[in-house]
Formats: sequence, C-alpha cells, structure tokens
Amino acid sequence: MRSHYCGEVNTAHIDQTVEFSGWVNRRRDHGGVIFIDLRDRSGLVQVVYDPDLPEVFATAEQVRNEFVVRVRGRVRARPEGTVNPDLPTGEVEVLGLELEILNRADTPPFQLDDEDISEELRLRYRYVDLRRPVMQERMMLRALSTRTLRRYLDDHGFLDIETPMLTKATPEGARDYLVPSRVHAGKFFALPQSPQLFKQLLMMSGMDRYYQIVRCFRDEDLRADRQPEFTQLDLEMSFMDEDEIMALMEGMIRDLFATALDVQLPDPFLRMSYAEAMRRFGSDRPDLRCPLELIDIADLMDGVEFKVFAGPAKDPGGRVVAMRVPGGSELSRKEIDDYTKFVGIYGAKGLAYVKVNDIAQGRDGLQSPILKFLPDDAVSAIVERTGVGNGDLIFFGADKAQIVNEAIGALRVKLGEDLELMADEWRPLWVVDFPMFEWDEGEGRWQALHHPFTAPKTEHVDLLDSKPGDCLSRAYDMVLNGTEVGGGSIRIHREAVQQKVFHLLGIDEEEAEEKFGFLLTALKYGCPPHGGLAFGLDRLVMLMGGAASIRDVMAFPKTQSASCLLTRAPSEVSQGQLRELHLRVRKPQSAGDAGGSEG
Ligand code: AMO
Ligand code: AMP
Repeated sequence: MRSHYCGEVNTAHIDQTVEFSGWVNRRRDHGGVIFIDLRDRSGLVQVVYDPDLPEVFATAEQVRNEFVVRVRGRVRARPEGTVNPDLPTGEVEVLGLELEILNRADTPPFQLDDEDISEELRLRYRYVDLRRPVMQERMMLRALSTRTLRRYLDDHGFLDIETPMLTKATPEGARDYLVPSRVHAGKFFALPQSPQLFKQLLMMSGMDRYYQIVRCFRDEDLRADRQPEFTQLDLEMSFMDEDEIMALMEGMIRDLFATALDVQLPDPFLRMSYAEAMRRFGSDRPDLRCPLELIDIADLMDGVEFKVFAGPAKDPGGRVVAMRVPGGSELSRKEIDDYTKFVGIYGAKGLAYVKVNDIAQGRDGLQSPILKFLPDDAVSAIVERTGVGNGDLIFFGADKAQIVNEAIGALRVKLGEDLELMADEWRPLWVVDFPMFEWDEGEGRWQALHHPFTAPKTEHVDLLDSKPGDCLSRAYDMVLNGTEVGGGSIRIHREAVQQKVFHLLGIDEEEAEEKFGFLLTALKYGCPPHGGLAFGLDRLVMLMGGAASIRDVMAFPKTQSASCLLTRAPSEVSQGQLRELHLRVRKPQSAGDAGGSEG
C-alpha cells in the first residue's frame, strides 16, 4: 500500500510518482488548495490537493485529523519561499493525484503536538499517545538498544534461554505477585522478581553464558524509575571473576552507547568502593556529574558547645558533614528556607549554613546563624578543610549517618541541578566492595545488601563467623548519572557457605529447605564458580532517551498506583472463576475498609 515512507522523500524523488499510507497529522485549507501533512513512523510529508481534480479534491475536503488515508501523487519542489527547513522533507511536496480514506477518526482526545497533555489522558489513549513522534523515537531507540545488546551477547557466546514466569517466590526483597493454582487447591505460583535462581541453575547445567531479556514482577511502592513489571537484561557467566565480568559488561554498554547514541563512554569505567561513595556523596549511586562533595568534620566538632553538631560528632552512629557550594552566598533567605524544607523530607532537623563574604576578614567576613556557637579554631579549620573562597556557602548536616547521607546526598544533586553545576556528560561508574549485610534495627537482624546468593570476598569468609558487619561481598553495581542501571555479583557456589549465609540472615534450615531446597541440592551436584548481573533495561533506555520516567519508554506502562488505565486492569472476575481457583473474596464494604480475603 505504499512505495515510500513519508519521511523518506526528498529532491532526488522530484517528478516521481509515489504512494504513501498514514495518518493525517493536519489538514489546512489555503485559498482553494488543501494541504495535508501526512504522517507515518518515519516522519511527515506535505501533500497538496488542487481543485483542478474535483473528485480527489472533494475527498480531501472530508478528511480530518487522524484519518487513515492512502495517497498517490507526484513529488515536486516546493515553490520559492515555502521551503520548510525544520522538516527533513521540507524541500519538496507531493501533488495529490489520488486519495483514499482507509478509516475515519473521531476528534482525538488530545492534540498530538500539544506540549502538556495529562499523563492520565496519555495512558488512557496510549495508542494515540504512541503516535507522537517523541514516543515513536523512544520505541525505536528501545528496539535499537535491544538489537545492539543481543548482537554483542551473541558475538560473545551467550545463549538466550527462557525461564519460567509461573514459579516460586524469589528473594529480591519486594512483595510477590501471586497466581492461584486451579489444579492445586490453595496453592500459588509467584511471578518472578527476577530469574536469579534459574540462571544460577543454568550455570550448574553447563550453559556457560546465559542471557535473557526478561520481564520481572515486583509489588512495591512505585516511583519515576520503578514499575511493577519491568524488563531486565539478565546475564550469568561461569568461570569468570568479577574483573572479567565487569570488563565484558562495560564493553557491552560502551558498544550500546556508541551504536545507539554515537557517544564514546570512558574506557575503563571508574570504580569506587561503597565506603568511598557513601563518604563523598552520601549515596551508593552517586551522580558524578555534580561536583559537590560531603566533607566530614566530626573530628572538628566533637568538643564544641553547639549540641546540634557535638552530639552526632560524638555518636559512633552519627555523622557531621560540610558541603561547599561555589557561588552559594548569592542564595536568598527564602531559597535557604526551601532547601531546609527539602532536607526535612529525609528527616534532617535543620540545615545550618555559613556564607563566605570576605575571607580576608576572618570571622567578620562570614555570615551565619551558627557562628556564635563555634570557637575560632573550629571555624578556621572548617574554612580550610572545605577550601571555600569569597562568594561561596557551606551547608552542614549533623545527625544519624543515614539521615545525613540521604538528606545531604539528595541536596547535593538538587543544588547541582538548580545552580546548573552538572557536567553535560555521561559519567558511568562501578560501585564495588559492598558490605555483605546491613543491620536492620527494626527487625533486630542482618539483611543482605544484595541478595542471599551473593558471595563474600574470599579473604572475608572467616568474618561470617566473627564480624558479619565487616564482611564485604563480591557484588558490583553499575551507576550512570545517579541511576543504578544494573547490579550483580559473584555467587556462592559452595553449599556450606550458602547455608551459613542463610543462617546469618535468620533463615533456619527448615525454611531454607522449603524455599531454596532445590538450589541447595543442586549445589551438591557439581556447581561451577559463577556470577552475573542484571540491567534495568527500561532505566537504561530512559536515560539514553532523556525521558523523565521509565513509563515513557514502555509501550503500555502502569500508573503510579499499579493499574492500567487503557485496559482497566486489574479488574474483578466472575464468581465462577474464583470458585475454580478455590478463592472466596469478600468485597470491601466501603471505601477505607480494606475488606478481607479468605479461601
Ligand atoms: P536488582 O534487584 O538490583 O538485581 O535488579 C537489577 C536492575 O533492575 C532494575 N530494577 C527496576 N527497574 C524498574 N522497575 C523496578 N521496580 C526495578 N527494580 C529493579 C534496576 C536494577 O539495577 N537478580 C539480581 C541481579 C543479579 O544479581 O544478577 C537482581 O534482580 O536497574
Ligand atoms: P537551632 O539551634 O535549632 O536554631 O539551629 C541553628 C541552626 O542549625 C539552624 O540554621 C538550623 O537549620 C541548623 N540545624 C539544626 N539542626 C541541624 C542538623 N541536624 N543538621 C544541620 N543543621 C542543623
């Protein structure tokens, strides 16, 4: 039904007869001549209908936005002065000789070129939203990305192997989506949070190198970069250590960026320990485009009278930091108040600051509500350590380490954006040397920082018994401009170590057997050393395409409240279906009453 795509025609086609099929982007009447901007995936072309061909002209008069039409016509140069330099096809137009309406369209729910359409409307009429050129470009970028990744992996000996969707709970830390079994009354499948255990089993099966572009399901609180179902590029490799895996994987990401974006990423990527990332940036996924850093000053503050600083400085679980903001003395009172509210979201109780007006004047050249609480030597030590100059500002955070890290870490990025300090560059890095465990105050037990199959550093295995908190793991995360795009580890491949880690995590033998018995058994039948990782494909494409949310790189995403506005899922099912599944559901009696489920 076509000879060309709309966006393909140019001056080389002049005088040729061409055929297109597509959507009417816009129809304009211009003093007896009708212009139709015809759109398909490739772009737009202008078609002109002249009253000299009355029958065709009459059809053109009927056409409205978003009608689907077939056009036949002759390409000609646009007249002098009407060339559109913004349009790739802008030097030519097509004189319409035939026009067939393939399908009519109601007035669309929104104008495709409208700048700000509500997301609700976009999701409800997703098929119209996806016609917008920006969305088509993102879907094409996504397809180009998966194509490029697959090619790299095929070239490096990876096998694409599928794993079950109906399976048993996998421990990635989120809530499971459950599927009731009709055949086995009262029993449930879980949709996988990741293929973690299956890919490990594939290594035990001798597959050597596995990958899969796979859907994962996690019932958790949603954010701009989190969806209940999302896609991983999931990988696992045998007989490779972490350096080899990281080298192969950053090669893949470099290849992706070079092919899809014509961007050369650094070779090799920077590596940073978890401890350094937390110390300098307050985050295990630091955005290295931002030059601001957290500077520890607890040692300068433990003797001062100012309790706000002295308390956390003396507390082993506390942290006191200063952050130099170049040019920050220009910030108004109101702006500082707003930043104080911002850090409050993360639990910070305040945001002390010092403005540096004239450093030569010593104390008199500084301006701050907290100066009066600090002795001279402490003030000059802060000035020296932060390296501030005239016109700068220092922000302070003092509290439990976690609050300071989260609050000042987030403030760092926000200031970087607000004050336009962010480098216009891609800054990938690997974060390594993660602790194996973190202490969960609430539950009073150790939690795995990654997942329970992550191997401890070989030289730290003994610490599992003596000091689990000091035990580092063989995990690695790839971070790109403040987003964790991927993460993984070398796995435990010995049953005894796996049992020990389960034990530390408070998983007793019975529970280990019930949940992971198949893995523990498999470990006894010849398991190669292995490791791998998974990339968040949606996040990667979101960053590459400059989208604000992963919803913008998924064809049919869910809302923030985990529903689909297009299909209206989730929805109720018939009593008959429930009976078949051995379920009885009591409906919520009123809003606010969550109701209960039995069965
Ligand atoms: P992890 O849980 O870190 O590791 O997930 C890997 C990557 O998946 C992305 N991601 C998400 N993207 C969108 N929405 C979500 N809800 C979501 N959750 C995670 C992130 C993350 O880096 N099995 C391990 C990997 C391994 O050890 O090999 C795993 O799933 O970009
Ligand atoms: P206050 O003595 O509470 O009036 O606080 C004096 C200054 O210290 C104010 O600028 C507060 O914003 C700031 N401040 C209070 N608590 C903290 C904290 N935990 N970390 C950093 N600054 C704080």
